[in-house]
Amino acid sequence: MKTIFSGIQPSGTLTLGNYIGAMKQFPTMQDDYDCYFCIVDEHAITVPQDRLKLRENIRSLAALYLASGIDPEKSTLFIQSEVGAHTQLGWMMQTQSYIGELERMTQFKDKSTGKEAVSAALLTYPPLMAADILLYNTDIVPVGNDQKQHLEITRDLAQRFNRKYNDIFTVPEIRISEVGARIMSLQEPTKKMSKSDPNKKATLFMLDEPKQIEKKIKSAVTDSEGIVQFDPENKPGISNLLTIYAACSNQLIEELVIKYEGIGYGQFKEDTANAVIHALAPVQEQYNKIIQSSELDDILDQGAEKASRVANKTLAKAKKAMGLGRVKKRK
Ligand code: TYM
Repeated sequence: MKTIFSGIQPSGTLTLGNYIGAMKQFPTMQDDYDCYFCIVDEHAITVPQDRLKLRENIRSLAALYLASGIDPEKSTLFIQSEVGAHTQLGWMMQTQSYIGELERMTQFKDKSTGKEAVSAALLTYPPLMAADILLYNTDIVPVGNDQKQHLEITRDLAQRFNRKYNDIFTVPEIRISEVGARIMSLQEPTKKMSKSDPNKKATLFMLDEPKQIEKKIKSAVTDSEGIVQFDPENKPGISNLLTIYAACSNQLIEELVIKYEGIGYGQFKEDTANAVIHALAPVQEQYNKIIQSSELDDILDQGAEKASRVANKTLAKAKKAMGLGRVKKRK
């Protein structure tokens, strides 16, 4: 059975972009792959976090994974900082990374440009992400389009390590969904929808109430043509809404374009909002049940235990290949 690994940062309420681009795909993979889903809290602290808020976000993200359909009997759900092998291999992968290639990462440039105190960890974020993936002999990494560059560097680091030391790491493939790999801001549809957008009208959150969803979609920036057509370059706002509608209602964009021929943006926006509300309702309902329950801790304990077992094996091989520590004699 092939292995899947993916991670999400607990750095705030998840957006509809996180859901459509990543989380929504995860449950569909559980029967066919050995799946690891991670709450990457060590990545979240590469930018300042409030201690109590981070704790809350970690729990909330765990509940959202489960609410979206992750079954702990089938998949391993765990918190990155509870499996020590991640930072250990992360450090080792840093020794294989070049500053130049890390400085070229778009995410690093976006998060550091114009900022005064940029942490060193923001620069060395990709070798930690490579460690996350490589520890589990991962074959496939399902992510949104914005993680493509990080996956490319993960592949490079794995190949570089294998060539230099020993053939230890599986070189992973990226899997990006056909529709919704890049959900855009509702207010500036040429920009990615993001948790940290200061304009709250720009982002749909997974836990938004129906009224908020309706309001945000109604005020989404479109154009004055009045034609529902998929043309991301010339009609980014409408194309983004079409993508959201298609992903949330499991319809094809082409079908929707035909359906809305000759119908104005008002009706189209109302129906898009309804599709989002209907897609999120069961997840929100489950979330509210799970967040109150104590089983969440048991699931995360078991997840960390299982993940540690697998990760420590790969870590031991990598340490041996690099000459770290001692060779343990069998007693
Ligand atoms: P993060 O936490 O920013 O996002 C989690 C997932 O959501 C996807 N995503 C989007 N997809 C479509 N449209 C959007 N607007 C949008 N915004 C976010 C992301 O592509 C991602 O799949 N570095 C990663 C976390 C990570 C990771 C890993 C992922 C750490 N280690 C190992 C995979 C494997 C990140 O910051 O994702």
